[in-house]
Amino acid sequence: MEGWAPNVIVAGVDGSDAAIDAVRAAVDLARSQSAKLYIVTVVRPPEGWWGIVGSPPTAEALGDSLSDAQRNVLDRALRAVDLTGIDYETQEEIGEPSSRLIDVCNRVDADILVVGRRGAGLLRRMMVGSVANHLVHEAPCPVLVVP
Ligand SMILES: Nc1ncnc2c1ncn2[C@@H]1O[C@H](COP(=O)(O)OP(=O)(O)OP(=O)(O)O)[C@@H](O)[C@H]1O
Ligand SMILES: [Mg+2]
Repeated sequence: MEGWAPNVIVAGVDGSDAAIDAVRAAVDLARSQSAKLYIVTVVRPPEGWWGIVGSPPTAEALGDSLSDAQRNVLDRALRAVDLTGIDYETQEEIGEPSSRLIDVCNRVDADILVVGRRGAGLLRRMMVGSVANHLVHEAPCPVLVVP
């Protein structure tokens, strides 16, 4: 039997420095394994959407503002790391961050999900951010939590 080797890597970015560190680790892992890397950002819809429609709105329904925010988050991550020679794609999602990231992992059949221990949240309520914590419990693949 072959040993475990990550061929498909998903990294979550939210605009934080911690997420940049996580992407850097994901890029190094992707390079060493010649793996495919998906860099994903999830934006929560504005308050009110959930109650009204009961499901995440489409990107078009939200207009350009959220997409601009996502592009900024992704651009910052792409600028911060050296992606030379890496087979990567970016993905923008709308909804609840941990469940959307889990969806992406399932869709691309991820072998590992890489996230920061903390993110862009302003409150330092917990040792581990709520998104990272949820993913450690619920992700369909191994999770690398980068401190
Ligand atoms: N919206 C998101 N899209 C993609 N990845 C995310 C998103 N939010 C968090 N992550 C990933 O999870 C890591 C931990 O972030 P998390 O949100 O859990 O911490 P936090 O923002 O400090 O805490 P909280 O959100 O609970 O206030 C981030 O470094 C990033 O890798
Ligand atoms: Mg957060």
